[in-house]
Amino acid sequence: MRNYTFPNFPAFMVITLGLIATLLLTLIAKTGNSGITTKTDSRFAEKCYTCHGNEVASQEWEFSGHKHALTNLIEGPYEAKDSCLSCHSAGYNDPTSNWARQQEITLKTAVNAVSCSFCHSHKSHRKHYLNKSIKSLCISCHKMDCGCSGAGIIHQSQSEMFLGRDGAGVKRMPSPHVKVMKKRCVHCHMAKETPDTVAKHGGHTFKANFSTCKQCHEDMDRKLKDYKTQIEKKMQAVKVILDQANNQESENYKQAKLNYDMVKGDSGYGLHNINYANALLDYSLSLEQELIGSQ
Ligand code: HEC
Ligand code: HEC
Ligand code: HEC
Ligand code: HEC
Ligand code: HEC
Ligand code: HEC
Repeated sequence: MRNYTFPNFPAFMVITLGLIATLLLTLIAKTGNSGITTKTDSRFAEKCYTCHGNEVASQEWEFSGHKHALTNLIEGPYEAKDSCLSCHSAGYNDPTSNWARQQEITLKTAVNAVSCSFCHSHKSHRKHYLNKSIKSLCISCHKMDCGCSGAGIIHQSQSEMFLGRDGAGVKRMPSPHVKVMKKRCVHCHMAKETPDTVAKHGGHTFKANFSTCKQCHEDMDRKLKDYKTQIEKKMQAVKVILDQANNQESENYKQAKLNYDMVKGDSGYGLHNINYANALLDYSLSLEQELIGSQ
């Protein structure tokens, strides 16, 4: 943990604290009265907007799926728990407000989606006041293992696929991009040609676009199509085996299913690490005899 010091914290911020805290308290009080779903999509639920509301980043965030993370959690088909909020809501640990630390955030009191202050804080000494290193920022939420087993939901597997880990029966196999992209997910998902204009993808929309591939690959469009076809074929083959399996409680079944879910959970065909996706499915296929052979 870092030891934060206050000096490089702008003085005017300190002065506005009282004001902001009051504003916040009012907001929270209102939300508490009017039920769970109100305010979740309001840009003013997050205090940063008082100063940053008109900036490009804020405007782009309006287009981002992150904006809907809390609404979708609460209105989604799965049973939401307070623990889900660690990734579906943010904005309560702002150092400008001592009040915040004393709040227990629950589904009833949560107001913010994946908002600015999950990723930024003026107290941070990192570039752009990032709370975490750029390497670990996105993967802290975008992982299959969300600790929400039992809720009936399988989360996407971008982190596991990108880093090439946690599958069954296959050695670690990071995407070649891990080495060449210092900013990792951010390299593709926040790439922007014109920094000062509001983008439709990249920047704070966090949406990736295949045009990024051209930075380094010539023929990726066509290649990717072939990869996709190849992997979808393998997935079908694995699915057939899984459906016919004698014993769905067996360790082999669980392994074959895990690998299948991982590939499927990554844009449907293992986009973030094609080589690993192939290896995972190959391993599942190698279990055919054990899964559907005579008992
Ligand atoms: C606090 C947890 C959290 C962090 C950190 C986080 N995300 Fe997300 N992200 C989510 C959640 C939750 C959703 C689902 C939102 C929804 O649709 O309900 C999501 C959705 C997305 C989507 C798909 C939805 C869309 O916008 O079309 C992309 C792409 C994405 N995030 C990229 C990123 C990138 C890149 C980073 C790192 C810069 C990142 N995320 C960091 C929680 C997080
Ligand atoms: C999911 C994490 C995440 C969220 C949420 C987020 N940011 Fe960022 N922000 C980043 C990252 C990562 C960078 C650095 C991008 C880079 O280095 O290419 C950044 C950069 C910035 C910058 C520097 C210049 C620029 O525009 O890139 C500003 C300003 C900024 N963010 C403001 C905001 C505001 C305001 C919000 C809320 C509307 C917000 N951010 C929400 C991750 C996030
Ligand atoms: C009282 C006004 C005010 C509030 C409230 C405020 N900021 Fe800032 N912020 C500023 C100013 C002024 C700067 C530029 C000077 C500096 O870097 O400190 C800045 C800079 C930043 C930057 C760096 C931009 C870059 O180019 O690297 C980020 C990121 C940021 N703020 C995020 C936030 C987030 C997130 C919140 C809410 C938790 C927030 N700010 C709340 C006034 C504010
Ligand atoms: C470790 C972080 C994390 C935790 C904890 C977490 N989620 Fe998520 N959730 C995400 C991310 C990231 C996404 C976006 C990518 C995806 O769809 O997997 C997401 C997406 C979702 C979506 C799909 C949103 C949409 O686009 O419609 C639902 C529904 C959801 N989560 C429900 C839950 C529930 C219910 C819980 C608690 C039982 C939970 N999540 C806990 C990170 C998390
Ligand atoms: C090589 C560039 C690249 C890197 C690195 C990368 N992505 Fe992606 N990602 C993409 C592309 C391209 C898509 C597909 C976008 C589309 O279909 O329009 C995508 C799709 C996604 C989606 C699904 C979006 C949706 O709408 O459902 C999520 C979530 C996501 N990536 C998160 C991540 C995370 C987290 C990381 C880091 C572990 C990461 N990505 C690293 C290029 C990249
Ligand atoms: C910063 C440069 C860079 C960018 C941008 C980039 N790649 Fe790569 N990619 C590499 C390198 C380096 C390798 C490993 C060497 C190789 O196989 O060409 C690689 C390998 C791959 C591979 C596995 C081997 C192969 O060539 O088939 C795939 C698939 C891939 N990239 C897809 C993508 C996609 C899709 C995008 C865009 C979303 C993308 N890459 C963007 C640098 C990049």
